[in-house]
Amino acid sequence: MKLAFVGGTGPEGLGLAMRFAKAGHEVAIGSRSAERGEEGAERIRETVPGAVASGGDNASVVGDADVVFLTFPYSGQQATLDALSGALAGKLVCNVVAPLEFQQGVGAVALNVAGSSALQEAIAQLPDSRVVSAFQNMSAEELQHLDHQIEADVLVCGRDAEAKQLVIGLANQIEGVRGIDAGGPSQSRYVEMLTSLLINLNRKHKTQSSIRIVGL
Ligand SMILES: NC(=O)c1ccc[n+]([C@@H]2O[C@H](COP(=O)([O-])OP(=O)(O)OC[C@H]3O[C@@H](n4cnc5c(N)ncnc54)[C@H](OP(=O)(O)O)[C@@H]3O)[C@@H](O)[C@H]2O)c1
Repeated sequence: MKLAFVGGTGPEGLGLAMRFAKAGHEVAIGSRSAERGEEGAERIRETVPGAVASGGDNASVVGDADVVFLTFPYSGQQATLDALSGALAGKLVCNVVAPLEFQQGVGAVALNVAGSSALQEAIAQLPDSRVVSAFQNMSAEELQHLDHQIEADVLVCGRDAEAKQLVIGLANQIEGVRGIDAGGPSQSRYVEMLTSLLINLNRKHKTQSSIRIVGL
């Protein structure tokens, strides 16, 4: 498949793109600047032997993508999706955004957003796309160290069952990762909020934590 990353020049987009390129997918790194998108693609090609990676501005990379990952900060979600809603029509969109902010002396703080979750707000903004959320709890640090064995579950939320299964299949292609159907869009809020907890655990214990659900 061809996988595109809007805001793919940050650590999370690059990390996911590296892992999916390693699994044999073609990846396209998007940016607000075509040049930074190209540089991101170059990093993928340097890091992953045999990777097929291209880069460009956000609108250009989503054009022929099978799946589009949203890997930018929550602060940019509304404006970015406003600008790309036409280009994303008919596409499977996977939102990786976790709304949070850093507060001095506290650490990461999950934001209460108007639409309840970043996923629900994205669904409202992209009525013609098939939008799910996933990978919000997956550390970019872990993703980018390709020799590091990941051990994590990826909780996939959304109302489109077929789209969720496709994203679960992609998650399962990352060694050590298990994709799980975590339910409808309203569940995404809890998954998104867990990211702040994991960031604060990482700081406290000087590690890269992830989540594993037992009992399934
Ligand atoms: N980092 C992690 O370990 C991690 C883990 C789980 C989930 N996440 C989530 O994944 C998303 C990406 O994380 P990240 O750490 O890679 O983020 P980031 O480095 O802060 O941003 C990623 C890219 O988004 C673009 N961007 C920045 N501000 C933007 C704006 N206002 N509008 C549109 N694009 C903007 C930038 O690319 P250009 O300047 O090239 O356009 C930037 O390189 C976040 O929502 C985060 O909560 C991150």
